[in-house]
Amino acid sequence: MKSKTRYWGSVQFYKHLILSIVALLILVPSSGFFVMLSRHWKLKQTYRLAMEEHTFYIEQLEERLSTAESQQEETNAKMVLTSKGAVVMQGENETPSQTAEQTLTIPFAVDLCSWQYILVNDWNPLSRSFQPDLADTRHGKQVDRRIKSSLERMMDDAREEGLDLRICSAYRDYEKQASLVQNSIEELLEAGNNYEEAYWQTRRRLALVGTSEHHTGLAVDLVGVTHQTLDDEQADTPEAKWLAEHAHKYGFILRYPKEKEELTGIEFESWHYRYVGEQAAAFIKENQLCLEEFIALAEQ
Ligand code: DAL
Ligand code: ZN
Repeated sequence: MKSKTRYWGSVQFYKHLILSIVALLILVPSSGFFVMLSRHWKLKQTYRLAMEEHTFYIEQLEERLSTAESQQEETNAKMVLTSKGAVVMQGENETPSQTAEQTLTIPFAVDLCSWQYILVNDWNPLSRSFQPDLADTRHGKQVDRRIKSSLERMMDDAREEGLDLRICSAYRDYEKQASLVQNSIEELLEAGNNYEEAYWQTRRRLALVGTSEHHTGLAVDLVGVTHQTLDDEQADTPEAKWLAEHAHKYGFILRYPKEKEELTGIEFESWHYRYVGEQAAAFIKENQLCLEEFIALAEQ
């Protein structure tokens, strides 16, 4: 009779054990490598799509602008020619309905063609030809020459109260805005978001090229020297609180207030201030308006 040899502990068992360990040592890292490779490939694909869509958007924007510029009377867009010859389109796209109290009236004359009222947002892109007259200001930044002294006076007065304001962003050209948008989408994709999430998260915080009021030189991002991150905590800094209280005296408004996101298209930004002039800034602050609501009231 053939005797049954025990498998456990046999030479064959150890052979199999060693083979299995070797196989595992090869398979585990190589499958990890393939997972990483496919993730990288997927990321590259989504990023390529994001960029294609972004390029498409820019092309559409430019087409809309050139059509509107050459056929002003034909288009239903209302053209506002500013003193510098910049063309801003209003009303071509569906703008969100304005919620400002219809009974409210502005107690001073507002010339909407005046430079400080230029409205730039998702629905009102700037013309490619727009070029502000820039002046150097603090921290290596540039702003529209006409707001430099108000900005610096505001910063000096804050300093008198022990608050060291930093300009972390001011005038931006189209290339700078494009790279900010691109980097944000890229970072969010790499953090594991899908393209749609990355795109919309970016859009809520950053305007697309041609629709950022940083292009006008009339907007500045201001933070305190001790907390220079543009995050939710920024609003609780003494500098942000001081600005919220005093900026209007220098002609600046908080451009993206809380609960106005539907009208501005941008999330609350406690650091983004926009020059509109002292009279308008005081009225906007007093009535808790956003610029879109103020313009709508002035158009009535
Ligand atoms: N962060 C503001 C909306 C901009 O990009 O212009
Ligand atoms: Zn800003």
